[in-house]
Amino acid sequence: MERKNFIIGVLLLSFIPINAQQKELAPTPPMGFMTWNFFGVDFNENDIRTMADAMVEKGLVDLGYNYIFIDDGWQGGRDNKNNIIADAKKFPSGMKKLAEYLHERGMKLGIYSDAAQLTCAGYTASLGFEEQDAKTFASWNIDYLKYDYCNAPIDVITAKERYQKMAKSLQKSGRNIVLSICEWGDRKPWEWGAQVGGQLWRTTADVRDKWASYGKGKELHGTGAGIFDIMDANADLDEYAKPNAWNDPDMLLVGLYGKKGPSGDLGGIGCTDTEYRSQMSLWCLMAAPLMITCDVRNMNAVTKEILSNKELIAIDQDRLGRQARRLRKENDWHIFLKPLQNGDYALGVLNAAIDTRQIQIDFNESGLQGKFSVKNLWTKKWQRNVKKINLSVASHETCVFRLYSGRLK
Ligand code: GLA
Repeated sequence: MERKNFIIGVLLLSFIPINAQQKELAPTPPMGFMTWNFFGVDFNENDIRTMADAMVEKGLVDLGYNYIFIDDGWQGGRDNKNNIIADAKKFPSGMKKLAEYLHERGMKLGIYSDAAQLTCAGYTASLGFEEQDAKTFASWNIDYLKYDYCNAPIDVITAKERYQKMAKSLQKSGRNIVLSICEWGDRKPWEWGAQVGGQLWRTTADVRDKWASYGKGKELHGTGAGIFDIMDANADLDEYAKPNAWNDPDMLLVGLYGKKGPSGDLGGIGCTDTEYRSQMSLWCLMAAPLMITCDVRNMNAVTKEILSNKELIAIDQDRLGRQARRLRKENDWHIFLKPLQNGDYALGVLNAAIDTRQIQIDFNESGLQGKFSVKNLWTKKWQRNVKKINLSVASHETCVFRLYSGRLK
């Protein structure tokens, strides 16, 4: 009997550290720079290094943007032992050296593959080589894998199997590697993504560099989804988001200004700074991963200011890990409320109309009791001890406020 207890105890102990490690892979939404919208498949190790240097120099790494996510286009096929290899022309020093370069600077490295034979852009992918590729990624000291779903069967059962297979392979690889599921929300991954071992999952089609297509649902694949469409598709999935299980409404467009490439397809003509500021606001309210895709090396002052809003980033990264609830969606108003760990709230107000509008927000009507000291996280203006606020919100603007509870500021 005692021996049995002892064995159970040992078994439990040997499981706890693994679970604990897995649990903490993405306690807050991952942040960093993703190659896709700016580079497409046309990048090399020097581009990554210079981008990483710029991230450090411009203070973005200190703000939490500590990943470089290498997207599609790094692969160079397989060697004679079927090990996946990086394109030697693009990465002459190899991925391991690149990971080392980033780790030395307090950064992490993400990489990309696909649950089929070929990726979306037609490069070598991981189907049938999951364990081998996971080991290879671990041997390169990779920290994150975006696992895409082009060229794979449409049914949900296969998708779950293929993602689980990669998740298990990563878990056995000997390194903690975040798994990002990317099947564009077509099979409702928010319902099964965490269960199969993913820490985040794309909820929508690819975001294009525009405000809106005014398309609906699946049409977004064809008509091209803008910031508004993606927000609208992701906004009501709040109940599924929690630490280590995030809805991913795709990359930040901030600072792209209609640069061609993937984000420029399907009508991606660019956005105004107000719209980019709105995307940052909405993504932070929705506890979304924050993946910068503009050229950080040459970003202008407004782009830097938008991406560096510390108080907004704190809303995104809040340890309670709740995605804002959309309280209201009518007459072009979208109102969001995100509870924060210390009892404060973040309140977001989007005016999706084509003109400036006025609105009064009564906190009690939003389900909150009493008075708050309120800070506008863009203008930095305070209103103290109030029950309501009156706002004038520009077209496509999102105002974000922090409501301080229980203590007067
Ligand atoms: C898909 C994904 C994009 C990007 C490309 C790469 O379209 O949704 O985010 O990774 O593939 O080919």
